[in-house]
Amino acid sequence: MKMPSKKIVEVRVGVLTGIASNLPLNVRSKDLPLNNQVALVTGAGRGIGRAIALQMAQLGAHTVLCGRAKKALEKTAAAIQNAASEPEPTKLPAKSSVIECDVTDLGSVESAARQVERTLQRLDILVNNAGIGSDTGPLLELDPANWDEVFNTNLRGVYYCIRSFAPLMVRARSGHIINISSLAGKNALPNGAAYAASKWGLNGLTYSVAEELRAHNIRVSVICPGSVNTEFSPHTGKNAEKMLQASDVAHAVAMIVTQAPQSFASEILLRPTQKP
Ligand SMILES: NC(=O)c1ccc[n+]([C@@H]2O[C@H](COP(=O)([O-])OP(=O)(O)OC[C@H]3O[C@@H](n4cnc5c(N)ncnc54)[C@H](OP(=O)(O)O)[C@@H]3O)[C@@H](O)[C@H]2O)c1
Repeated sequence: MKMPSKKIVEVRVGVLTGIASNLPLNVRSKDLPLNNQVALVTGAGRGIGRAIALQMAQLGAHTVLCGRAKKALEKTAAAIQNAASEPEPTKLPAKSSVIECDVTDLGSVESAARQVERTLQRLDILVNNAGIGSDTGPLLELDPANWDEVFNTNLRGVYYCIRSFAPLMVRARSGHIINISSLAGKNALPNGAAYAASKWGLNGLTYSVAEELRAHNIRVSVICPGSVNTEFSPHTGKNAEKMLQASDVAHAVAMIVTQAPQSFASEILLRPTQKP
């Protein structure tokens, strides 16, 4: 049996224990697990997407940051750059690109895919993170426009991204697609039915396309977190410290993309250790 090199094992331990920022002092960029890989994260300007993007860059990937607000994406790019310019010997590669992209617009997503193909020639990891909540309240009072907005972002947007980016992976016969769903896609969510339905739909999309792409050596996974401490929704009455943090979701993504080639963690449900 061929064992991975010692340095890669060290890096993986860092990732698996959630202390990727404490990478071994002697680590060099070529030893990082995602060296030479390209990862694209939608909604990378804040919250969970930002944390995932930082984590992917820290593991050595060239990270493509997508979203509608360019300034927020540039801030994430600057954070990646700053992490990389720490004094030697912890210097990590600073590789990221910013692409403005609205996942609800097929033309915008296709243009982003063409840009990735032209400039980077490959895509190893696609993280479909961009998402919005629905208006809070009973379904009978929901504005149909809000229903459309939620489904166009949380479900159609993921379909557009898979449709546009997966061909690069099919061509390479390799890749990870990770969809950020929610425990609301596993449970009932009274007063959030449209959001829950979009995430139940996303889970169904994930399981089905996972089977379709398996033959192409592409692993399609879904992560379903409970409430995460971001700007996504008010967390009135919750203890923020006990809540899941964006970095916890990033850690789950890191686990998925650093698996051995024969292993496929298809779904991760993420809960806080203690109820916040
Ligand atoms: N926070 C939670 O409690 C929680 C729990 C479970 C699952 N989730 C899921 O985790 C994901 C990220 O949530 P978060 O907490 O990080 O939310 P957030 O802080 O509100 O960030 C959402 C991100 O999605 C992007 N986005 C929204 N619409 C977009 C569009 N049409 N095109 C491109 N990007 C778009 C936003 O960027 P722009 O506005 O700049 O485009 C933003 O970067 C979502 O899918 C959410 O459903 C969140």
